[in-house]
Amino acid sequence: MTKQIAHFSLLAFAFCYLAFAYEPKPLQDYCVADPKSSVYVNGVACKNPMQTQADDFYFSGLHLMGNTTNPFGLRVTPVTVAQLPGLNTLDISMVRIDYAPWGLNPPHTHPRATEIITVLKGTLQVGFVTSYPENRLITKVLCKGDVFVFPVGLVHFQRNVRSKPAVAIGALSSQNPGAIMIGNAVFGSNPPIASEILAKAFQVDKKLVDQLKGKF
Ligand SMILES: *[C@@H]1O[C@H](CO)[C@@H](O)[C@H](O)[C@H]1NC(C)=O
Repeated sequence: MTKQIAHFSLLAFAFCYLAFAYEPKPLQDYCVADPKSSVYVNGVACKNPMQTQADDFYFSGLHLMGNTTNPFGLRVTPVTVAQLPGLNTLDISMVRIDYAPWGLNPPHTHPRATEIITVLKGTLQVGFVTSYPENRLITKVLCKGDVFVFPVGLVHFQRNVRSKPAVAIGALSSQNPGAIMIGNAVFGSNPPIASEILAKAFQVDKKLVDQLKGKF
């Protein structure tokens, strides 16, 4: 009997663990974000369902080319809960990514989402780095119509490898995937990480660290 109870507790624990490891299933049709609410919840508080409208579930503009005139030759146009309030609690969002010729989406990670992209135009080299086996690079060149997935949390990048613009559409498994750009996080934090720390971490001298800090 004691053994049975122990098994049951273990099972209950396992279920709890699973339940808390992911956002819960919706408990109602939807929860349109009410950004004006002063209530703090995990996500955004819901608008009164009697007052929701079609426009709460709608976004327009992903047909528009993003402005890629910047040092990376990149523009990400997000459609997350911030742009489309109906996404609140639904675990999903989208992006349009425009790349100038040879444009780069530099190494970054989405702490809360897997990302799946499809190339609409052009040719991209994409890649991500695994944690096991440690630091293995998985990379491939994608053409129009190709689909590639970046597993949640892993550092990944895309580069346009042609002298023409490229476009991709991405879907992410969070209403608010977040993006940590590795260069910005390490060399552009506010307040900055001490140069001695970064010099030792990257095994370079402080001058180079300061130079990198100036770029982010
Ligand atoms: C694109 O961005 C650049 C740099 O910010 C700006 O100078 C330019 O006017 C923008 N182009 C358009 C069409 O908005």
